[in-house]
Amino acid sequence: MKMAEFLRGTLLPLISDGNSIRQVLLVAGLYFSLRKGFSFIRSGYEAFKTFGLPLVWPRNFSKEYGQWAVVTGCTRGMGLCFVQELAKKGMDIVLIGRSIHKLTKIAADISNHDVFLLSI
Ligand SMILES: NC(=O)c1ccc[n+]([C@@H]2O[C@H](COP(=O)([O-])OP(=O)(O)OC[C@H]3O[C@@H](n4cnc5c(N)ncnc54)[C@H](OP(=O)(O)O)[C@@H]3O)[C@@H](O)[C@H]2O)c1
Repeated sequence: MKMAEFLRGTLLPLISDGNSIRQVLLVAGLYFSLRKGFSFIRSGYEAFKTFGLPLVWPRNFSKEYGQWAVVTGCTRGMGLCFVQELAKKGMDIVLIGRSIHKLTKIAADISNHDVFLLSI
């Protein structure tokens, strides 16, 4: 009974009135457009903060965090990227891994940077 009243009293007039439907769709469209736009601007800001800002305003990691960094899982993937980037920034690194061969190879690969490396 209540459902029928709802249909008759609220939904049917809304559907039969073209302007109301247009307004609802307009509000929904505006809402989703604003959400998408905000998310796009936020992604752009994050990308700028991560990739753009360090180019114009480099950070001194040694000063901020101390001269030594410890990287576990450093033989490949993200750990290896961390090692390479920290070495570029002139930080001394403790490399922690399971394979001495891989650790030796990494140490050899980044020996051109003037940094201390300690493999464990
Ligand atoms: N890649 C991504 O986009 C991403 C995103 C979010 C989170 N993560 C997480 O970040 C971590 C690293 O990701 P990744 O993509 O760089 O992974 P990966 O390429 O698989 O690298 C894993 C590293 O961890 C070491 N490792 C694996 N199992 C180990 C174990 N049982 N004991 C000690 N060391 C071990 C590996 O050493 P060996 O060379 O000796 O095997 C290697 O150095 C993972 O936990 C991953 O779930 C990754």
